[in-house]
Amino acid sequence: MDKYGKNRQKSSAAQQMTMRSDVNNLMSARDLKKSFSNGGVTLEVLKRINFDLNVAETVAIVGASGIGKSTLLHILGTLDRPDSGTLLFKGENIFQFNDVKLARFRNESVGFVFQFHHLLPEFSALENAMMPALINRMSKQNAAEAAESILIRVGLKDRLKYRVGKLSGGEQQRVALARALVLKPSILLADEPTGNLDKGNSEQVHELLLELNQELAMTLVVVTHNMELASHLSRRVTIVDGMLKQIN
Ligand SMILES: Nc1ncnc2c1ncn2[C@@H]1O[C@H](COP(=O)(O)OP(=O)(O)OP(=O)(O)O)[C@@H](O)[C@H]1O
Ligand SMILES: [Mg+2]
Repeated sequence: MDKYGKNRQKSSAAQQMTMRSDVNNLMSARDLKKSFSNGGVTLEVLKRINFDLNVAETVAIVGASGIGKSTLLHILGTLDRPDSGTLLFKGENIFQFNDVKLARFRNESVGFVFQFHHLLPEFSALENAMMPALINRMSKQNAAEAAESILIRVGLKDRLKYRVGKLSGGEQQRVALARALVLKPSILLADEPTGNLDKGNSEQVHELLLELNQELAMTLVVVTHNMELASHLSRRVTIVDGMLKQIN
């Protein structure tokens, strides 16, 4: 075997070892930077973010307003791009994907829940929850079945045909959760998902998030000011001077 062949063999063995040891790794952010310019002033929000997320783990991002929590979540979900740094998903550098592949990744692998649900109020709960599946070119019947089953799971069996605008705040947020989960993403990113709900509804949604994390083996990253929820997740992080910091 020539020396190039040997090298290839070595590098493939090394690769396999890395893959074995990283079997639980879902996503890794390396040296992420993000600045915003406002009226000639540049604000460096994320300076050097390193963040590793394992399959099915639960992480809370906590901390004061304006430290960059939403900015980081948007980059992890590829809704926004970093100025520099890399984001690996199952070992693939996702910001190198072309637009079509990136859109497919976002649709299939990532679920989002926001503080305000961004549902279509004129459409039914079922139609809203079907949307990502239809975008993913699932047949209408399969999309409806998938949406119905997740809506039932989040406790909305009797609200399938209701127009979302007629539902309560807690019900709307559960539709948003169903929509985020209809394609069974590998990771759910939630930005203050219960910031707009009363205590009772918040607790219901928190319980659902934790149950679905277990049932779907889905990684859960939640930006929250709710320390009760944060305390139930496997770890808590914050952002200090643009860098990620673990907290107890
Ligand atoms: N598109 C933008 N253009 C300019 N500045 C922005 C933009 N997005 C965020 N910022 C600024 O970046 C900083 C971080 O914003 P970000 O929304 O990430 O904070 P946050 O930690 O989520 O805060 P909160 O807890 O209030 O939601 C803020 O000072 C914000 O004003
Ligand atoms: Mg925010």
